[in-house]
Amino acid sequence: VITPVLLAGGSGTRLWPVSRKSFPKQFVPLVGEDTLFQASAKRLSGDRYGAPLVMTNADFRFIVGEQLGKIGIIPSGILIEPAGRNTAPAILAAALTVAQTDPDGLLLVAPSDHVVPDTEAFGHGVDLGVPAAQAGRIVTFGIAPTRPETGYGYMEAEGAGEGPLVLKRFVEKPDLANAEAMLAQGNFLWNAGIFLFSARTLIAAFETHAPEFMAPVRAALTEAKRDLGFLRLAPEPWDRLPDLSIDYAVLEKADNLSVVRFSGHWSDLGGWDAIWREVQDDHPAERGAVTDDRSTAIDCDNVLLRSQDEGIEVVGIGLQDIMVVSTKDAVLVADMNRAQDVKKAVAALKSKG
Ligand code: GDD
Ligand code: MG
Repeated sequence: VITPVLLAGGSGTRLWPVSRKSFPKQFVPLVGEDTLFQASAKRLSGDRYGAPLVMTNADFRFIVGEQLGKIGIIPSGILIEPAGRNTAPAILAAALTVAQTDPDGLLLVAPSDHVVPDTEAFGHGVDLGVPAAQAGRIVTFGIAPTRPETGYGYMEAEGAGEGPLVLKRFVEKPDLANAEAMLAQGNFLWNAGIFLFSARTLIAAFETHAPEFMAPVRAALTEAKRDLGFLRLAPEPWDRLPDLSIDYAVLEKADNLSVVRFSGHWSDLGGWDAIWREVQDDHPAERGAVTDDRSTAIDCDNVLLRSQDEGIEVVGIGLQDIMVVSTKDAVLVADMNRAQDVKKAVAALKSKG
């Protein structure tokens, strides 16, 4: 069986004001009834999988426990990272945990803030990847790119078909010129941020490409403390870790990458523009206005009007390329093309105190 590893430690600042530091986007029902975290946990349950391991931080531990409880999923562990150090240390800690009982055990690492509605297609992709992962490959999942997005990793695949295909190159978050060039070249895929590998393979990749992570992560696990149902990793070694994603730490350097081409729908709800694209499918007009039942758009074009969590009503007239998100204590008004800059608003508000 595969151990699902749910990454649930990010703060989702680009979806402010709905996503808050104490309650980030993965725990909010942004699309559909379940929260994104619950939907991810459900997607990774069933015959193929064992109980999930959740990687999170102290602020979210009770939310994680409660949201899993509501859907009847019992985790094999909830590991608490003492500080945010990005995905590299979290994923290594998960691999070392699985290796304690089964060094050849497979892990499927997934973000908890994505939309992947076709569970069956996704499971099929996982099945395709299993033999490659068992043979010592790090299996990634690739999405056909549709725009020169600079917030994703790009992967150059050898050959055609579903795969698993050998990866020639992995480029994390290119600048716009490079993203455009890779899009034009045609054989690049976006990295979905979902990875399948054996514990042994990933640990070996860290030993080769990012050895500085090994000792602190091992120590944080050895000195970890049980607290209710949670495992608190030791803060002292953890604080010494670099703040780095798995993409930069390992994937850009590794030579044993494969990719399974995933053709089902996938969205990283990375910003309000992504939410806009996501909910737009329910709206026939290609470039219309997307509103909820507490918002009204008159003669609007490429506009998102949204009122969430008892937000005040929103009315837009004659707007173009604008997003408005209202909650009960804050309203965001921004240019649709500046969705990625919402994190700057969060930083600005933080410095005001
Ligand atoms: N436990 C834990 N601890 N989780 C974390 C941490 C952490 O310190 N930091 C981030 N995460 C979680 C986030 O909540 C998210 O679910 C996932 O790890 C990925 O982190 P992001 O910060 O969202 O990464 P990204 O979107 O910039 O880039 C990654 O995902 C893209 C696709 O969505 C990369 O893998 C890209 O290559 C990829 O294209
Ligand atoms: Mg992301």
